Amino acid sequence: MAERVTLSVIKADVGSIAGHHVVHPDQLAAATKILAEAKQKGIIIDFYVTHVGDDLQLIMTHTKGPDHPDIHGLAWEAFQAAAKVARELKLYAAGQDLLSEAFSGNVRGLGPGVAELEMEERTSEPVITFHADKTEPGAFNLPLFRVFADPFNTAGLVIDPKMHSGFVFEVYDVVESSSVLLKAPEEMYDILALIGTTGRYIVRRVYRKSDNLLAAVVSVERLSLIAGRYVGKDDPVAIVRAQHGLPAVGEVLEAFAFPHLVAGWMRGSHYGPLMPVPMRYAKVTRFDGPPRLIALGWNISRGKLIGPVDLFDDVAFDEARRQAQIIADYIRRHGPFMPHRLGPEEMEYTTLPDVLERLKERFVKQEARK
Ligand code: F6R
Ligand code: MG
Ligand code: MG
Repeated sequence: MAERVTLSVIKADVGSIAGHHVVHPDQLAAATKILAEAKQKGIIIDFYVTHVGDDLQLIMTHTKGPDHPDIHGLAWEAFQAAAKVARELKLYAAGQDLLSEAFSGNVRGLGPGVAELEMEERTSEPVITFHADKTEPGAFNLPLFRVFADPFNTAGLVIDPKMHSGFVFEVYDVVESSSVLLKAPEEMYDILALIGTTGRYIVRRVYRKSDNLLAAVVSVERLSLIAGRYVGKDDPVAIVRAQHGLPAVGEVLEAFAFPHLVAGWMRGSHYGPLMPVPMRYAKVTRFDGPPRLIALGWNISRGKLIGPVDLFDDVAFDEARRQAQIIADYIRRHGPFMPHRLGPEEMEYTTLPDVLERLKERFVKQEARK
């Protein structure tokens, strides 16, 4: 039997240059050094370090399975090293996602975002890793639904016998910390009834129904809930396996050609279009955004990471980017008004309680008119 390999994508915002815009090259170098040493010691098989906006991204392969203290400890060490650089250079928000000084075996619940997928490597194993900034895990709900349940996006659902029976969605409730398995297409309307509420119900995993193969994983950490106060948007990551009885790479990417509105722009308090970009545009300068997504294409070969291919570096996504610009212009003109600004319960910054407190004597009760 082929050895099981785990792909771990762990990210954190540990500081950035000139605001919350982009990771400093010295931070990437510091994290790379830690992971290179671990590779040499045989703790991991392979790795790649990158960033999207102000989020440092560690992509690692190993045989230890998900949630392993060695791997999470290693990620923690790499983030600490990058945070140290941030402090030395006085970068902005140095160490912001490292919520606890003491590492206790698992980064889940500490701050960093985690997506891990354990697989038995197929004869050829094409995988996409997605990395987003200025948004939340629920941003993947709409595109993942389209990839794994919408025949108007994914032709294979209709014409590939291997995926014709559909997929199973694990939907996670971030408030109750519980999850439910729902089948597509049979329970499609129930799935949509939940995942349309992107701030609470999140597509966490997707399995192929015919054989339970794990096809996709999304990070579900909600930093604001973990910390009990705002400490930065929980900019998410996702892993999606593709081809040979799964959605083709092109079917997966197709779902991102529509720059849908997601929460998390400026001060984590605004909706904006999710713009699919190549790595060179993975920095967020307009109104700290708009929310950005990169997609990296890999083949996993005996645990080795072959790639990446910068998948949105394609003129075919120019129009999605242009639409995102138009949507950004349009929605920005709402300024402080909803629905550009999030609802009061979801805003990461607010003065509303103070304003209400100050004005409370000046509110005059009005009798209801007959
Ligand atoms: C951070 C983010 C930014 C900040 C904004 C204000 O990831 O999304 O939009 O919220 O730049 O940051 P502070 O309060 O640090 O000045
Ligand atoms: Mg970020
Ligand atoms: Mg940030």
